[in-house]
Amino acid sequence: MFLSYSIQGYAIVSSDGMIADADAMMPDALKLDADQRFFEREMDCADAVVHGRRSHEGHPNSHIRRRLVLTRKVAAIAPDPDYPNSLLWNADGASLRQACAALGLQSGTVAVLGGPETYRMFLEIGYDAFHLTRAGKVKLPGGMPVFAQTRSGQSPEDVLCEHGLAPGPVRILDEVNAVTLVSWRPKERLRE
Ligand SMILES: NC(=O)c1ccc[n+]([C@@H]2O[C@H](COP(=O)([O-])OP(=O)(O)OC[C@H]3O[C@@H](n4cnc5c(N)ncnc54)[C@H](OP(=O)(O)O)[C@@H]3O)[C@@H](O)[C@H]2O)c1
Repeated sequence: MFLSYSIQGYAIVSSDGMIADADAMMPDALKLDADQRFFEREMDCADAVVHGRRSHEGHPNSHIRRRLVLTRKVAAIAPDPDYPNSLLWNADGASLRQACAALGLQSGTVAVLGGPETYRMFLEIGYDAFHLTRAGKVKLPGGMPVFAQTRSGQSPEDVLCEHGLAPGPVRILDEVNAVTLVSWRPKERLRE
């Protein structure tokens, strides 16, 4: 928990741990109904979402959600010309607390939607949970790892473990497409 916010991360990865292909695009093969249903249910409980400038959400209720779009094109916090409920945020110029306050959010659930730089930055802030979906039949050789600065051969699970998170049980979202979900939470919290 960061101050009074619950920080929840969400990613879907290929069997080889990638969130996007070698051209840095998220392929349709990763857009799987079972994960989309899980994701939409979760988003309906989020008070705000955060993502990098090249990510988007593309769900029916996206336009009504409070949103922070990370970009270095602004100094700190600025209105988003495209969406009324969204703000542009440069994390070097304003803290998460300041950005949330600018959205009118003093507490609540903040959903972190990626991509790699965004997921990495929130590793340092601290996740209350990171929900990692794996599409077991999709491979993205040479693709984009979940976390920026991932070392060669390091899986997203290795990175989460290194940052003090531990896995919960494996949930099967779609047996035919081998889609599984594991929610990672801070180890100390699991012992409480
Ligand atoms: N499979 C999945 O679950 C999943 C999830 C999310 C994204 N993706 C895919 O991953 C790819 C990359 O997404 P992305 O480019 O949005 O990821 P990203 O690496 O988080 O964001 C990159 C951009 O966000 C801004 N940014 C990042 N960190 C910042 C910081 N600390 N302060 C200020 N600005 C910051 C910068 O924008 P400026 O260049 O404007 O400065 C940077 O170029 C996309 O193809 C997306 O579809 C997949």
